[in-house]
Amino acid sequence: MAILITGGAGYIGSHTMVEFLNAGRELVVVDNFLNSKPCALERVKQITGKDFKFYEVDLLDKEALERVVCENGIDSCIHFAGLKAVGESCQKPLWYYHNNITGTLNLCEVLQKYNAKRIVFSSSATVYGNPSSVPITEDFPLSTTNPYGETKLMIERILKDLHTSDPEWSISILRYFNPIGAHKSGLIGEDPQGIPNNLLPYITQVAAGRRERLSVFGNDYNTPDGTGVRDYIHVVDLARAHLKAIERAEKITGVEHFNIGTGVGYSVLDIVHAYEKATGIAIPYQITPRRPGDIDECYANPAKAAEILGWKAEYNIEDMCRDAYNWQLKNPRGYDD
Ligand code: NAD
Ligand code: UD1
Repeated sequence: MAILITGGAGYIGSHTMVEFLNAGRELVVVDNFLNSKPCALERVKQITGKDFKFYEVDLLDKEALERVVCENGIDSCIHFAGLKAVGESCQKPLWYYHNNITGTLNLCEVLQKYNAKRIVFSSSATVYGNPSSVPITEDFPLSTTNPYGETKLMIERILKDLHTSDPEWSISILRYFNPIGAHKSGLIGEDPQGIPNNLLPYITQVAAGRRERLSVFGNDYNTPDGTGVRDYIHVVDLARAHLKAIERAEKITGVEHFNIGTGVGYSVLDIVHAYEKATGIAIPYQITPRRPGDIDECYANPAKAAEILGWKAEYNIEDMCRDAYNWQLKNPRGYDD
């Protein structure tokens, strides 16, 4: 039986494909390249020496999606496909709601019809809003501040209701903290279009000389050095969590939520210094005003994933910085090179 990967050409999807193919899993991949390039899939084949079926399909095209599921004996799904930029979601909320939610509804309807009632969903720590304390456990109150976050929270609720209506479903909701880094081969990595929104891709472009200096968004947060604290996790560790999640979903039915983070919080300045140490390159920066919507601190208590999934992050912050830089060095213009 094959596993359907939606959004497999994207940053996290491509790294997860490598781990699944190396584990001998049969994959069928769909992506519409809304935010990715076909080259990423070629690179996955290059790294693993393994093949998989690919369909250029939009989740909004339910008939095409149904053909893929029907023809390939799909029995489970890892669902990455979605739009993910917070700022853009505030400017184009209808597009975000339609793509992320309608896409997921189509997917679940098709999976249910073909009795493939096993799904791992990419949620985000954004569903914890501005947490009242850290580290965050899975039972913290949920809230969001932007349409992107709303789509994650709504999909979590849709999946819960789906299981209530049909207990044969096995649903694993992974709440990612801040994925960074790249595969150690330097063949796949994060390929942001335009000016990067997130910290690590921005620092990486400063290191490579594509941008002059980093803007550190505020140094008056309630944190040890005043800059925002986050839980950065190596994308390969994150990818491996999906393998553990599907193995668990193959054994039990139900809905489970897991924090996927390291449990360690680093400030923006910690990351600048770790990057400098890992690469030997100075990162010039300036302190600028806060970015609206940013919070002081966000890091996971990942004990539940350790206990139930048997998963734990293995890479440290310098590994993450080194691998991000290695990807940048080998692909100065991302997949366009
Ligand atoms: P990405 O943009 O690199 O990958 C998403 C992929 O989905 C892309 O290849 C895109 O082309 C595809 N896609 C989007 N809409 C589609 C549709 N309607 N039909 C078919 N394909 C479609 O993003 P990523 O960083 O790999 O994130 C994967 C998932 O994890 C997303 O759901 C994202 O919201 C979630 N997530 C990401 C982060 C992060 O920091 N990267 C953090 C938390 C959660
Ligand atoms: C952001 C999103 C979050 C999403 C996550 C992963 C916002 C408000 N939140 O999280 O919903 O799940 O990305 O995609 O966009 N920083 C700088 N300078 C920069 C960039 C960032 O100082 O140029 C700081 C930020 O203020 C923050 C930290 O670096 O303190 C991390 O920022 P970022 O990488 O954008 O991730 P989040 O804001 O945690």
